[in-house]
Amino acid sequence: MPEDFSNQTIMSILNRRSVRQFQDIPLEDEKIRTILDAANRAPSAHNQQAWRFIVIQGQKRKDLSALVAKYAPDFNKPVSTILRMSARTIASAPAVIAVMNTGQFIANGSTLFRVNRDDALDFFRTMEIQSSAAAVENLLLAANSLGLGSVWLGILYVIKDQIMDFIDEPSGEFMAVVPIGYPARVPEGPKKKPLDEVIKYL
Ligand SMILES: Cc1cc2nc3c(=O)[nH]c(=O)nc-3n(C[C@H](O)[C@H](O)[C@H](O)COP(=O)(O)O)c2cc1C
Repeated sequence: MPEDFSNQTIMSILNRRSVRQFQDIPLEDEKIRTILDAANRAPSAHNQQAWRFIVIQGQKRKDLSALVAKYAPDFNKPVSTILRMSARTIASAPAVIAVMNTGQFIANGSTLFRVNRDDALDFFRTMEIQSSAAAVENLLLAANSLGLGSVWLGILYVIKDQIMDFIDEPSGEFMAVVPIGYPARVPEGPKKKPLDEVIKYL
């Protein structure tokens, strides 16, 4: 067994589950800041931190849920079903964090690395996405360690332009939407692949 049950970080990683239903309890502002601070300290390519976190609460959160539900019928199953589920999850969470990439590393990368911008676009965009993904994982783990639940809603990519418009960010790129709150129930979660299936030693 690789698990070190005495290590709080390892335990927090092991017991994190995607939570899609929340109790009707407000989320303390200090906890939101603690979670966002953890996200902001993630590693990022060339320390560019090309991310932004948009906190959506109250009526705006209800409006976001309504927006997602409105566009669900435009898609075939299973996308429409997952969008409707996402709308319900957003409606039940006291706070929702939208994560976006600013495009700053894409803009600055060619100067910083002295490479042709067009050739390097894919590289810098990938670096931004990977960096923001690290920030989102920090966010999920920080929430879990504070007794909160969260889920990464990547499906909203299918309406990314509408989401960017909603969060009032005219430039940059959609990354993720993460509802956070006190879990109504922590699911067992899907089975993970056996470790030996995904590793190879050379
Ligand atoms: C990039 C990414 C996108 C995801 N998008 C969604 C989503 O749109 N809706 C959803 O309910 N869960 C989404 N998830 C959560 C996964 O379904 C979940 O992590 C996976 O089933 C494993 O379960 P666990 O998080 O409980 O370990 C996403 C996770 C990742 C990393």
